[in-house]
Amino acid sequence: MGCSRRRLRTSHVRGWCFLNRDRVRALEDLLHGRASVRSFRPDAIDIAMVERAIEAAGWAPSPHGTQPWRFVIVEQPEIRQKLATAMADTWREQLRADTMETGEIERRVLNSRDRIETPPVVVIACLHLGDAHHYPDPNRQEAERIMAIQSFGAAAQNFLLMIHAQGLAAGWMCAPLFCPDVISSTLRLEASFIPHALFPVGLESNAPRRRGRRALESLMVKIND
Ligand SMILES: Cc1cc2nc3c(=O)[nH]c(=O)nc-3n(C[C@H](O)[C@H](O)[C@H](O)COP(=O)(O)O)c2cc1C
Repeated sequence: MGCSRRRLRTSHVRGWCFLNRDRVRALEDLLHGRASVRSFRPDAIDIAMVERAIEAAGWAPSPHGTQPWRFVIVEQPEIRQKLATAMADTWREQLRADTMETGEIERRVLNSRDRIETPPVVVIACLHLGDAHHYPDPNRQEAERIMAIQSFGAAAQNFLLMIHAQGLAAGWMCAPLFCPDVISSTLRLEASFIPHALFPVGLESNAPRRRGRRALESLMVKIND
């Protein structure tokens, strides 16, 4: 399978070999096909597929190869319910402090609970700085932390793409960033696990509406001289 390195190099000069073009198309299909899903069916899924996606996450680039992330799989409905309740209570308080109208608060909280309670699995992706390098100055230490977060994003994308490639659906909820302690205490996570994202995983109940993408020209700048 696949083009050899030598063929790939010469293909730059001669144009793509067929196999290379197929690989690029397959990758584009995968990238374009993945979508953030926000409503799920309760049907069970094979947990091995979730593990395979976590394995895929492990192939993301990471600073010093430290793989500064951990994925926590939550399947049991009672635990997901407990988690959803604890997160909802915190969010409700935050929205009240924002002086949001009660009906709107409850609508949002219910929607969020549904995403945690309905799908068969949720995965809490955590930043893990246990193997981070230590520096004497705060600038480099902060750069080390930022690198870990950048790497977390790459791992998350691998995870989501592998979920999608296997015919499953997932969403991305940033809620853990706003209540990491609530999640850690509810799930009794190790102190080194810092919850950063929650991915509901299952089968989609409604095809998500895709957001458009910016034109290529607006995403790049060419420096020619
Ligand atoms: C860091 C991050 C946080 C996100 N948080 C949420 C969220 O809390 N709720 C949500 O519905 N989508 C969330 N999303 C998903 C984005 O809304 C989604 O990726 C974007 O609209 C593009 O749509 P697509 O993923 O279907 O291509 C998040 C995405 C990222 C990268």
